[in-house]
Amino acid sequence: MSKLSLKISLFYLTGIAIILVVSLFVMHNLLVEQQVQNELKSLHQRGDSHRDVLSENIDQRTIEHVVMMEEKAITEVVILDESGQVAGASNQADEHVSQDWLNANEGIAEDDWRNEPFLASISLIDGGGSVIMLEPTEQIQSLISDLNRHFLIAALLTGIFLVLSLYFLSHLITRPLLSIRQAAGKLSEGAVITVPETKRNDEIGELALAITKISGDLHQIQKSRKAFLTSIAHELRTPITYIKGYAGLLKKEESAYGEIIYEESERLHKLIEDLFELARMEEHSFTIEPERTEMTAFIKGIIDRLQFVFDEKQITLLFTTPHTFTKKIDRNRFEQVIINLMDNALKYTPEGQTVQITVNQDRIVVIDEGPGVSEEALPFLFDRLYRVDTSRNRETGGTGLGLTIAKEIVEAHNGKITAENTSSGLSIIIDLKGVAS
Ligand SMILES: Nc1ncnc2c1ncn2[C@@H]1O[C@H](COP(=O)(O)OP(=O)(O)OP(=O)(O)O)[C@@H](O)[C@H]1O
Ligand SMILES: [Mg+2]
Repeated sequence: MSKLSLKISLFYLTGIAIILVVSLFVMHNLLVEQQVQNELKSLHQRGDSHRDVLSENIDQRTIEHVVMMEEKAITEVVILDESGQVAGASNQADEHVSQDWLNANEGIAEDDWRNEPFLASISLIDGGGSVIMLEPTEQIQSLISDLNRHFLIAALLTGIFLVLSLYFLSHLITRPLLSIRQAAGKLSEGAVITVPETKRNDEIGELALAITKISGDLHQIQKSRKAFLTSIAHELRTPITYIKGYAGLLKKEESAYGEIIYEESERLHKLIEDLFELARMEEHSFTIEPERTEMTAFIKGIIDRLQFVFDEKQITLLFTTPHTFTKKIDRNRFEQVIINLMDNALKYTPEGQTVQITVNQDRIVVIDEGPGVSEEALPFLFDRLYRVDTSRNRETGGTGLGLTIAKEIVEAHNGKITAENTSSGLSIIIDLKGVAS
C-alpha cells in the first residue's frame, strides 16, 4: 500500500474503531442494566401480588398455595411470619435467604447479578411477616453472555467490513495518483508524456489534465529554446569568422584598434562555438564515443601541452596519481572537460601559487590556490552563462559556459562533477564511479 492510502486508512480506522468501541460499550451496558432492572421489577411485582393475597388472609392453605405456584416457576418464594420464622418456602429456597434480609425493608434486597447466586426482593405483609422472592442469577448471566457474544460478532464483522472498505476506497484514490506520478516522473526527462486518468470527472482528472498541459507547454518551450540556440549560433558563426579574419589582417598592420577588434572577435568566436556546442548537446545530437582509457597517461598528455601557459604565469602545476584507473571515455570530449577546468584554475590562481591535479580511485580532482567561490554561488557554478564576477573583465573575462559544457560532457558519460571550497581554493571533483571501465 502506498504511503498516502496507508495514512488515510490508519486515520479513519483508528477514528472509527474508537467510536465503535465506545458506542458498543455504552450500548452493552445500557442493555444489561435495563435487563437486570426489568427482572428485578417483575420479581418485586410478583412478590407484591403474593403479598396482597397473603395480606388478605394469612393461613396455612394460602401459604401452601403460593409456595406451590412458585415451585413450578423459575423464581422461588420464602414466606416469613411476623416473628421472622420461615412459614413456607418453595424448593428449600429458605437455605439461600441471607440474614440481612430478615429485618430488611420493602424493596430490592439483592441486585448483584454478577457475584450472587440469587436476585432478591422483599414485600412486607400487612400485619407482620414478609414475602421474599428469589430469582437465580444464572439465567441473567447466560443471557448476558449471549449478548456479549453477539456484540463481539457484530464488532468483528463491522471491523472487517471497515478495513476492507477503507482498503478499496484508499486504493481507488491512490492508485490513479500513483500512475499519474509515474507518468509525471518522465516530465523531467523532457519527454512528451501521456498522463493517465484524464477522463475522470473529479479532482484527480483535473490534476491529470493540468499535468498533461504542463507537459505540452514544457515540450514546446524546450523545442523553441533549442531551435533558437541552434539558429542563433548558426547565424552568428559566419559573420564572426569574417570579422576575425579581417581583424587579423588589421592586427598585422600593428594598429591598436586592430588588436582590440581581434581579441574581442576571438572572444565572440569562442562564445559562439561554446553556445553551438551546448545547443548540440541539448539536442542530444552529440554522441560520445567511448574508448578504454588509462587516466594517468591521458591526463598527463593534456597537461604536458598546457605546461607552458602555467610556466608563463609562474604557477606550479602538480600532478599526482596515488591510484590510477581505467574508464571508457570519449577522449576528445573529456579533453575539453580537463582543459576547461585547467583554464579556470589558471585564470583564478594568482602568480606564484600552485594548481594540483590528482587522479585517484575513480576520481579526477583539480585544486587551485585561488580565491574560491562564495558558498551562495557554489550551487550555480555549473549553470549556463553563470559568472561569479559579473563584470566581464579582461584577464578572467570568460563567458560562463566552460563549466556548463564540462558538466554536460561528464554527465553524458554517467559521471558526476561537483565543486567544493577547500582551505587553499576551489576544488572541482569529477567522479567517474558510475562509468564503465
Ligand atoms: N577555479 C576557480 N576559482 C574561482 N572561481 C571560479 C573557478 N572556476 C570557475 N569559477 C567561477 O565560476 C564561473 C563559471 O565558470 P565557467 O568556467 O563556467 O565560466 P568562465 O570561466 O567564466 O567562462 P568560460 O569558461 O566559458 O570561458 C566563473 O565565471 C568564475 O566566477
Ligand atoms: Mg571557464
